[in-house]
Amino acid sequence: MLQALDIIANALPTLLQGALITLQLTAISIAFGLVAGSLIGIARLAPSPLIRVLARIYVDFFRGTPLLVQIFMIYFGIPALVRSLGLSFTFNQWTAAVIALSLNSAAYIAEIVRAGIQSIELGQREASESLGLDPVQTMRYIIFPQAFRRMIPPLGNEFISMLKDTSLVAVIGFEELFRRGQLVVAQNFRAFEIYFAVALVYLTLTLLSSQIFSLLEWWMNPIERL
Ligand code: ARG
Repeated sequence: MLQALDIIANALPTLLQGALITLQLTAISIAFGLVAGSLIGIARLAPSPLIRVLARIYVDFFRGTPLLVQIFMIYFGIPALVRSLGLSFTFNQWTAAVIALSLNSAAYIAEIVRAGIQSIELGQREASESLGLDPVQTMRYIIFPQAFRRMIPPLGNEFISMLKDTSLVAVIGFEELFRRGQLVVAQNFRAFEIYFAVALVYLTLTLLSSQIFSLLEWWMNPIERL
């Protein structure tokens, strides 16, 4: 037992550095995912059928294929494609990881944004337009603020899933938390202790994030705050 604790304690500094990288990777990917996902989610509700179909194809592709395959497609596939054109190109791991995770997250966030907007009753839009607000103002001041509050719980889910799914970029050698754990095991062969510690660090991160999202939910709810 003591030995197991020693093993974990020795690995902890490198695992915690990995955790910081995991957290940064998640935050950056979710931030890009949020921007792209909002645009795609709004495009899903666009008046033009062409735009709606394109947004739909995007969501279907990135939600309907494994993230692991998407990571390989980007990290190995894109440089191969560029090289076949006679140019030289290699991906930096950070860039490839952020691109893959953001593109994937955008598909999930698009659905959250679409559902959030559609959950606001039609009467809100009618009331707003009868007060003389144009469609853009209606979206900006009436629909979106209400929809955003409803999007917080599913966005929290997406953040937590992403936090765990970043472990998939270990396959391209990106040294986040899980990969750090693998490297430690390669040195000391203490697979159980180390992977258990890795799991606990992930658990700490997800519990902390869900706490922060609950707080955000409370803070964004004007009624419960009274
Ligand atoms: N694990 C699933 C996959 O490999 C979902 C990944 C996407 N996760 C996310 N939080 N956007 O496809």
